[in-house]
Amino acid sequence: MSTQRTSWGSRLGFILTAAGSAVGLGCVWKFPYVALNNGGGAFLLIFLAITGTLGYVLLQMEMALGRHAGAGVYGTFRQLGGRYWAAAGAMAVLAAALVLSFYSVVGGWTIAYGVKAALGQLTNLPPGAFEPLFANFISATGAPLLYHSVFIALSLYIVAGGVQQGIEKVSKYLMPLLLMLVLVLIGRVLTLPGAVEGLRQFLQVDFSRVTGQTIIAALGLSFFSLSLGLGVMTTYGSYMGEDTAVPGSALWVVLITIASSVLGGLLVLPAVFAFDINPGAGPGLTFISMPQVFAHLPAGSFFACLFFALLLIAALTSSVSLLEVVASFCMDQFGWSRGRATIVPAVLILLAGIPASLSFGVLARWRIGGKTVFDALDFLTSNLLLPLGGMASALLASWVAWRALQPHLARNGRPPSAATRLLAGVVGPLLIGVILWQGLVS
Ligand code: TRP
Repeated sequence: MSTQRTSWGSRLGFILTAAGSAVGLGCVWKFPYVALNNGGGAFLLIFLAITGTLGYVLLQMEMALGRHAGAGVYGTFRQLGGRYWAAAGAMAVLAAALVLSFYSVVGGWTIAYGVKAALGQLTNLPPGAFEPLFANFISATGAPLLYHSVFIALSLYIVAGGVQQGIEKVSKYLMPLLLMLVLVLIGRVLTLPGAVEGLRQFLQVDFSRVTGQTIIAALGLSFFSLSLGLGVMTTYGSYMGEDTAVPGSALWVVLITIASSVLGGLLVLPAVFAFDINPGAGPGLTFISMPQVFAHLPAGSFFACLFFALLLIAALTSSVSLLEVVASFCMDQFGWSRGRATIVPAVLILLAGIPASLSFGVLARWRIGGKTVFDALDFLTSNLLLPLGGMASALLASWVAWRALQPHLARNGRPPSAATRLLAGVVGPLLIGVILWQGLVS
């Protein structure tokens, strides 16, 4: 009886950890503006289709690889595939550092808005003031960098101090609280005049607006939201208990991520149209629209503060997973202590994030392929490195390590289906290849 309870506890612990990595700023910050910029309903359908099929299968592959090898992504790739695969593993570690460099910029915005809310600076503003408030904040030099540093310091503290167990326990109670708050807020948002237009934009399917770019964006967002392609799930899979099954856990993570993303869209997009915010506001969309929702609530400052605090925790459980990938690489390869293996990369990531943060202000003129540093980093990682990393894991799992992975991919003692292997080994990589090719050509 007691052993059963323990096993359930560890299974739940794993699912929460993996879902904690998946659910983060992706759902509330990235998903709404990417969905809106790519035409809404049709994008949502493509996102759901990719996440539910390819995403689900790749998530299983990444987890199974780590569970089998018992190592981080680089160690796993080298152990199972040898030197050339190891190079792909090293790329994944580097890409994880790149993602964290701009992720922590947005993490910093979350802290800043929590502080503004606590100081009562978000209420009592005229309707037109929220857009300039955000624009002035991110285009400044000092404050965003300060908050960016605080966000990295928090991630560092959690990973280096080994207090991850603690944050899992915290998020076990706080993430359901965030969910409840989001549901309440959606209720408020949907009763605002003009909100229906946002719903229509989000849900109405219009395939005539679908282009190669739409599909590549859906693929990139799906990988970003599921934390795929950078070895996060392989690293976490290496901590998986004997009694925790891969397919079931992966399915939970997919369902939780899909639900959170759709809720993120339902929260932010109706507000955008109710408050007549420029739909092309891009990365600022959530930060411009949400404070206006709180201004329409009793005790708005309190709810704003609570919302940004909970969003910060969701962001931290994601940033921690990225930093863990880099730290476990440094520990395994250089034999560094956990402290050193976390601090050195964290400082480098902090520095690497500076141009991304300043690209909203003094460095706005710096362009890479026509994009600001922030947009270029986001584009390079989400739309290129993540799909390539996922493709590498899928090929390694299905062609090199397939036999060894069988026990890890079994569901109730039954081996993985032929469809799973076909998707992971042939259709998935081909699809990724074609989508990337199309995207790069156009
Ligand atoms: N999935 C997280 C989010 O949506 C971000 C994230 C964490 C991530 N780990 C990742 C993205 C690995 C890509 C790869 O907020």
